[in-house]
Parts: sequence; C-alpha cells; structure tokens
Amino acid sequence: MHRRFIAPGALAAASLLLAVPASAASYSPGAPGIGDPYYPAYGNGGYDVSHYDLRLKYQPQTDELAGTATILARTTQDLSRFDLDFLLDVSEVRVNGAKAAFATSGQHELEITPSAPLPKGTPITVVVRYSGVPSTKSAYGFSTWHRTPDGAVAADEPEAAWWWYPSNDHPLDKATYDVSVAVPDGTQAISNGTLQSTSSQLGWTRYNWRQEKPQATYLTTLAVGRFDITTSTSEGGVPVVNAYSKDLGDQDGAARASVERTGELVDWLSGYFGPYPFSSAGGYVPDTTTGYALETQTRVYYSPRQFAGGSNASLVVHELAHQWYGDSVSLKGWKDIWINEGFARYAQWLWSEHEGEGTTRELADYVYASHPADDPFWTVAPGDPGADHQFDSAVYDRGALAVQAVREAVGDDAFFAILKGWPREHAYGNASVADFRAYAERISGKPLDTLFDTWLFQPQKPAARGASLAEAAADPVAQPRSWRQIEATNSAHEHEERAK
Ligand code: TRP
Ligand code: ZN
Repeated sequence: MHRRFIAPGALAAASLLLAVPASAASYSPGAPGIGDPYYPAYGNGGYDVSHYDLRLKYQPQTDELAGTATILARTTQDLSRFDLDFLLDVSEVRVNGAKAAFATSGQHELEITPSAPLPKGTPITVVVRYSGVPSTKSAYGFSTWHRTPDGAVAADEPEAAWWWYPSNDHPLDKATYDVSVAVPDGTQAISNGTLQSTSSQLGWTRYNWRQEKPQATYLTTLAVGRFDITTSTSEGGVPVVNAYSKDLGDQDGAARASVERTGELVDWLSGYFGPYPFSSAGGYVPDTTTGYALETQTRVYYSPRQFAGGSNASLVVHELAHQWYGDSVSLKGWKDIWINEGFARYAQWLWSEHEGEGTTRELADYVYASHPADDPFWTVAPGDPGADHQFDSAVYDRGALAVQAVREAVGDDAFFAILKGWPREHAYGNASVADFRAYAERISGKPLDTLFDTWLFQPQKPAARGASLAEAAADPVAQPRSWRQIEATNSAHEHEERAK
C-alpha cells in the first residue's frame, strides 16, 4: 500500500531544487533500514535522534491513542527524504516548522519528504501528529500492543514502538525521552524514568515521565491501567517506583514479594556491575496474560504469570541485571544478543550462589551435563544465533556457560574486574560480542579466541567443561591493562558516585 499526501510547500521546494541542481545532486533518501542483517527494515538511515517528546492521550475503553511526537535529530547525510517506523494514522508532519509531505510504504515505514532538502549535519525537529487504535494495526502479521481489561501495555522485543510512537526503531539510535500521557481520572499511565509531575483537568489525568539517559526504542514502555504505585529509596540511594495492577488477584502477594525487593537487588547487583546507571529503578505488573518479563529501562515489565508459582526474586535479578547489560550498554546488532541474555542469566547464577541454591560452577556443570551432545540445544550459537533463534534457551543457558568459561579461564580477580569494568567502558552506548572479547582479552591479558569460538560460535557441544580452556592460560596479549588498575578505577568512580 502506498498512500501519498503532498504538502503545500513541497511543490515550491521542488522548484527551488531545480534552481540549485549542482548541490541537489548529492541529496538522496535515507535508507529504509539501519542495516541490521537480522531485521533489514528495522530502524532507518540518514539521521540520528537525540530526543523524543511524546504528548499523548489514551482512552482505555476504545483503545484510541492520539497526540504529537516531537523528535529532535541530526542529519547524517545530505538528505532528500527520510523514514520513521510507525503504524498509526498520521495527519500532519512538520520538519523544522514547515509542513512536509508524507507517505507510507513497506511494513512500517513512514516516508517524510521535507519541503527543502536537508544538508548533512543539520539539526532537525520533526513533529508528527497522529491518532489510531493500536490493536488494529499489524506488521509482518503480528501485533505486540497488549490490551488489558483496564488499558494496554507496550513492551516487547525486538519491536514495540511502531504501535505507539514514530521512531528510528533500532537500539543503535538511542535517545532521551519525555513521555506525557493523559488518561481518564482513576487510571494511571506508567513509563520509564522519573515521574516529573501529574495534573488533572476535564476528567483526564496527565502523567509526565522523563528518561534523561539514552534509551533504546524497544526499552521505552507505556502501560495504562488501574495501578497501585509504590515509592521508596534503596539503601544505596536509588529511587524506586513500582506499580501493580489493582486486579492481580491471587498473584498480588507473590508479585509484590518479588518486585518490592528491587531496591535491595539493585544495590546487590551494584556490587558486581558498578554503580546503577540510571536515576530511578522499579517495575510494573499489569493485568496481562502474556508470560514474559522485559527489561524496559528503569521500569521493568513483569507478567503476573511469572509469579504463579510464588515469589521470583531470581527473575527480578535477571531483569535488573539487564539495566547494566542490555540497557545502559546496548547491543550493536541483534546478533549480539548474548551481551544481554548471557549476562542476565549469569547474574541469576550469582544470586543462586548467594542464596545457597547452587554455585555458578555447579549450575554450569549441571547445564552442561543436562544437554546430551545430540540435543539441538548445542546447534544454536549464542554468539550469532540467527533471528529465528534469538531468544532460544541456548542464548541464555549456553550463554551463561560461556560467561563461566571466561571466568574459569581468566581467574576470579580478572573476571570480576571485567564484569564491573564493561558497563563503565560502554556506559549509555552500544557494543558487540567482538567488543566484549577484545575487552576481556585486554583486561585479563589472555587470548580468548578459541574459548569464544568454542562456547559461543560452534554449533556443537564443547568436548569438555574446563578442559578445553587450557589454551587460555598461555600468551598474554600485548600490554594488558591489569585488573588491579581496573579495580582502582572502579572504586574511585564508586566513590565519586556516592559523593554526588
Ligand atoms: N529479554 C527478555 C528477558 O530476558 C525476554 C524476551 C525475549 C522478551 N523476547 C521477548 C520479552 C519478547 C518480551 C517480548 O527477560
Ligand atoms: Zn533477559
């Protein structure tokens, strides 16, 4: 389907272009995808977003969402046209104040043609006015907008944004956010970061949320429903905001007994990963029937089903570990998912050891032994699992086995220096599996190519646990930075953080 609207200014701009043919020649449309081989159409080329301002209104009875997205970005090429990823109905687009032509194409592209071409390096302000019923929209035949009896939830991976705001939908383009949502009085709107203020008029309550650290599009969440909101501060000084649907029924106690431990667990994880990277922490448990949790930045999404068997602090540890491994340090491409899941699962192993429920070594031996060599489990390479196996259990469990293998190869001192140094090295940025290997080699002074190949890339069961690691004991790489230096940097930084 290709709908096209011509803004009044567009024709004038076209004739202007004719007047300057020499420079116009270099202008071209931004790519419709950011270049991720797993998801070729996700994200876009030609610009880099720094901030999203979403001012919305949502009616739970009808699932109608309406409002304005104001996007601050900068062009990265001479740009004649660019895309946003979006599914709702757009009524107007402005670029730097002037009405722009727009059209839809592909599965989720909103093509925007500004009234004048944009030279490389230009700051741009894009205003998109829109409305729609997100639950009626799909791309690739599915929807990740989750309706609840009292509202809806946007939380999914690797895609959730198209259903509620226009974006450059890929973790490579992180940005800060102001999310302001008006909902009928008596209903709450939950999003990331800190609740700056609420106001009420004409029967609508507006919630103003702010995320002042860079955030990936899929980690930006919105939940509307009837919530009980709790606030506290962790012993380490991290403000915690949690929200529980008022309709959790039998799951209410177990959900609170897990998620109310967020502050304690953030502080505990800080001992391994360094200072918590954001100015707020917490989670929310909406009235959904889906069966997963998601590491939405600062405000983790938990399905009530996750607490059907009682409290689940280990799950909270997993999602909070992602705040360092996945959220502050995001992957470069979706093939790098081990950077997220291998370490979040390993954090659960550390918690298990802390709780006296099995050491990391025991868990590694157990996982290794419980999958025979002909188990398809071993055919998934966590270091590049393919889009179809991106969230296979092997990415988590074999992924954590790989982390344990690194630990046994480099020794505990270097390992814990790496575990804490990595989130600091790449804070608020993006990194790949290859970057992690290079970092671990630099800090430990040990070559880890065979180890990474064995545990993350070979489609077969490694011959033995522990034994295949002998090679790692040899040859220090040139000029290693010692773990002692890293430790010193880390503790100096923690000191600064505490002083703030
Ligand atoms: N990243 C999530 C976690 O580790 C799991 C997950 C994978 C997920 N794909 C998802 C959650 C899709 C929601 C939707 O907890
Ligand atoms: Zn995870």
